[in-house]
Amino acid sequence: MRAVVHTRYGPPEVLEVREVEKPAPVGDQVLIRVHAATVHTGDCEIRRFQIMPFFWIPLRLLWGVRQPRGTKILGQEVSGVVQAVGENVSRFKPGDEVIATTGMGMAGYSEFVCLPEKRAMARKPSNVSFAEAAVIPVAGQNALHFLREADIQPGQQVLIYGSSGSIGTLAVQLAKHMGAAVTAVCSTGKIELVRSLGADHIVDYTREDFSEQGRVYDVVFDTIGKSAFSKTMRVIKEGGAYIQANPSVADMLRGPLAARRQNKRVILSFAGNSSDDLAYLTGLVERGDLKLIVDRTYPLEEAVEAHRYADEGHKRGNIVLTTVADAG
Ligand SMILES: NC(=O)c1ccc[n+]([C@@H]2O[C@H](COP(=O)([O-])OP(=O)(O)OC[C@H]3O[C@@H](n4cnc5c(N)ncnc54)[C@H](OP(=O)(O)O)[C@@H]3O)[C@@H](O)[C@H]2O)c1
Repeated sequence: MRAVVHTRYGPPEVLEVREVEKPAPVGDQVLIRVHAATVHTGDCEIRRFQIMPFFWIPLRLLWGVRQPRGTKILGQEVSGVVQAVGENVSRFKPGDEVIATTGMGMAGYSEFVCLPEKRAMARKPSNVSFAEAAVIPVAGQNALHFLREADIQPGQQVLIYGSSGSIGTLAVQLAKHMGAAVTAVCSTGKIELVRSLGADHIVDYTREDFSEQGRVYDVVFDTIGKSAFSKTMRVIKEGGAYIQANPSVADMLRGPLAARRQNKRVILSFAGNSSDDLAYLTGLVERGDLKLIVDRTYPLEEAVEAHRYADEGHKRGNIVLTTVADAG
């Protein structure tokens, strides 16, 4: 089968399409014919191995110390069609259209991927393309996880920082769905996109600083790790929460202390791996309550170009690699 492998850490050009062995499902494994896989910012960070110090050693040990160990294939989430299942699989059968996270082993940038049934896996929503469906699992679970941790209540003021990215585009909509009044922070060129997702107020960070507008929030959700810690804490109400999906080491160290002193919560945690959450998200998509934003799609052969674009850091929602012509 064809897959995008990388045998060195570095720029997009380290990626190459190669023929690799097709996996076969055993036991609780599901073999998926991949139609689409996202190119996440996290994939680019692993490709060039630009990882925050806290995760550097464990990830380097997992992925390969001097260079990627063996045949390493990026790709944290996929959509596709079940081709075969192991003897212990009960939830899926050949022909089912599914979405799934691939976990730390990744391997989504390929024609086939073999995953344990217990991984977050759900039926693909029938009203969207494979390319659109592929953007749900990782960003969707992260957005849902963090907003639930913050215990958003109807009428609360919630600010989403990084509202035009993978997590952000879903977080804006999920916070609205939970009944919050949403302020979204984005650049000038993304204002219409973010407005179309339902944001009540928009702050263009290239012109204004949300922390200097005299407004306060019950929850600030920084999806991209670019908000200034102290200034942000000042605009969160007492008892409110600061969600950091991508915290710096400094913020991880000072967060809990500052939270206790100021009677605010700093939420630093990891989204789990939940098929139930995926099913909840796909239900929202099928009811038309969640729009999936795909900026560009590239065929697998153009993974280098896809990563070059991702490295620019300005995508609208998501970038998707496709392995079949009609993936969307
Ligand atoms: N994606 C996931 O599911 C996931 C899960 C866990 C952790 N993470 C980590 O979270 C980080 C990125 O999250 P993501 O994938 O959701 O983001 P992303 O899609 O990479 O975010 C890119 C978006 O952020 C906007 N942006 C850039 N600078 C900004 C700023 N200063 N203020 C507001 N918006 C800005 C960009 O548009 P403009 O440049 O036009 O502003 C672009 O639309 C990565 O480090 C990743 O490893 C991601």
